[in-house]
Amino acid sequence: MTVGDDQKHWSRFAREWIDWARSPDHDAFWAYQSAFAEFVGAGSGELLDIGCGEGRVARTLKPLGYRITAVDAVAELVDAAKGAESAADYIVAPATDLPFATGSFDTVISYNMLMDVEDLPAAVREFRRVLRDDGTLVISIVHPLADLQTIGAGDNYFERRKFETEAKGNGLTMHFSGWTQSLERYASALEAAGLGITSLREPLPEITPAREHLAQWQRLPLFLWMKARVISG
Ligand SMILES: C[S@@+](CC[C@H](N)C(=O)[O-])C[C@H]1O[C@@H](n2cnc3c(N)ncnc32)[C@H](O)[C@@H]1O
Repeated sequence: MTVGDDQKHWSRFAREWIDWARSPDHDAFWAYQSAFAEFVGAGSGELLDIGCGEGRVARTLKPLGYRITAVDAVAELVDAAKGAESAADYIVAPATDLPFATGSFDTVISYNMLMDVEDLPAAVREFRRVLRDDGTLVISIVHPLADLQTIGAGDNYFERRKFETEAKGNGLTMHFSGWTQSLERYASALEAAGLGITSLREPLPEITPAREHLAQWQRLPLFLWMKARVISG
């Protein structure tokens, strides 16, 4: 199996991500986590958290009742998720080559990782493969409209664009790398995998005094959440 640039990037900056993601109220996650748990909803059965990072999404969803398997391409992140008792099972694997039998999961979650994945259509095809025919795929992405805030004069919304950014704050640094792409590219990947969008949300952040820096996202959408179910194939 070849190691993709996405895996190389996240391996290189795994320590940065663990510190970044675990600093309370530092990034936007904290202002959206309750709404995301509500969007996923209480349930049972097998849930797969793909691109789990250090495990905070799994820890947020754990009280909902599912049995969670956490997967990430980066061993250091999976070890961190394990150390924090985020899920029931932990696997190191790329999103495009998951070591699970077809139809293994009732729910598949992909939280803020599809922007980072090199081959979006292949990843979504693999999500569908491991999903039961009556299962639900839940996706969070950075809203393509939020990306327009930083679009350059020579950039084209319709073209897939590589981004490399260094974010700083609260004494922390995080190197992000991935692809900005149109809403249609995400929808096409779902359609090609035989999945249809059944719910779509543009969530608002929960603002507290410690989260005033997120107030702009009450006027503009930062994230886009979707549920998809099998419609063909
Ligand atoms: C922005 S972080 C999000 C982590 C976690 N979902 C969260 O919200 O806290 C993106 C994650 O996707 C993982 N990732 C990137 N490309 C991947 C791939 N091809 N297969 C599996 N995981 C990948 C990275 O290792 C990283 O943990």
